[in-house]
Amino acid sequence: MAKITASVYTSHVPAIGAALDLGKSSEPYWQPVFKGYEYSKQWLQGSKPDVIILVFNDHATAFSMDMIPTFAIGCAASFAPADEGWGPRPVPVVQGHPELAAHMAQSVIQQDFDLTIVNKMDVDHGLTVPLSLMCGQPSVWPCAVIPFAVNVVQYPVPSGRRCFMLGQAIRRAVESFDQPLKVQIWGTGGMSHQLQGARAGLINKEFDNAFLNRLIADPEGLSDMPHIDYVREAGSEGIELVMWLVARGAMSDVAGGKGPVVKHRFYHVPASNTAVGHLILENSA
Ligand code: DHB
Ligand code: FE
Repeated sequence: MAKITASVYTSHVPAIGAALDLGKSSEPYWQPVFKGYEYSKQWLQGSKPDVIILVFNDHATAFSMDMIPTFAIGCAASFAPADEGWGPRPVPVVQGHPELAAHMAQSVIQQDFDLTIVNKMDVDHGLTVPLSLMCGQPSVWPCAVIPFAVNVVQYPVPSGRRCFMLGQAIRRAVESFDQPLKVQIWGTGGMSHQLQGARAGLINKEFDNAFLNRLIADPEGLSDMPHIDYVREAGSEGIELVMWLVARGAMSDVAGGKGPVVKHRFYHVPASNTAVGHLILENSA
């Protein structure tokens, strides 16, 4: 059977992708950001997942304001990097895992979550920047990736509680897939940031660090936090953090297993307009 071995959490700031693509990662502004992912790149190489379920949000790139699925699962064989206005990023095409994705759709929909099935989608910085941070600049990504998009752009967006429950349903789906795959689930976006309006530039280090603490130790309690608290404390785009609860909900301890091992924790400001947060949790054997 397939198994979820670990979860990874990271911000997806587009300027990080641009810094890498333009060869600026060792500049003084960016060096501390990339330093925070050095361990992570080694860890990922050592952990050798077969598939990453990458929970991310599309930023009105693949889905326009014409059509906005709350939860969407990418079932295609491949996903091209999107053109977000400056041409597509020079990163590898993402190879999907249609068999596991189709099984997940079947299982998760039967567990009463309405997923939109996506058979063609370009993927924007929400998905490619986390891959770049964790993998560097390889000529092919190291494993298959199932894009799992969550609407955090247009209200109403799903609650933290629903995202946490979705993660639990995803874990059951993966563990009922009849192939011995090592699967990771990544929650991306956040941490505190606001890109618009009077509070543009807002960062809240206290909130972010408390969020990391609770994500590790009290995810169930954290999942009860209402939208208004994210927006008030972490800024309008801080709502992206609900996606971290999908990944956390898929960890074994939530289903009665042992608590996860914290392999890595990193927090850094500034990076563009966003506080960069990053966590790696491994399921105990
Ligand atoms: C920035 C952060 C985001 O999450 C995003 O989607 C776009 C821009 C930023 O910090 O600039
Ligand atoms: Fe974003």
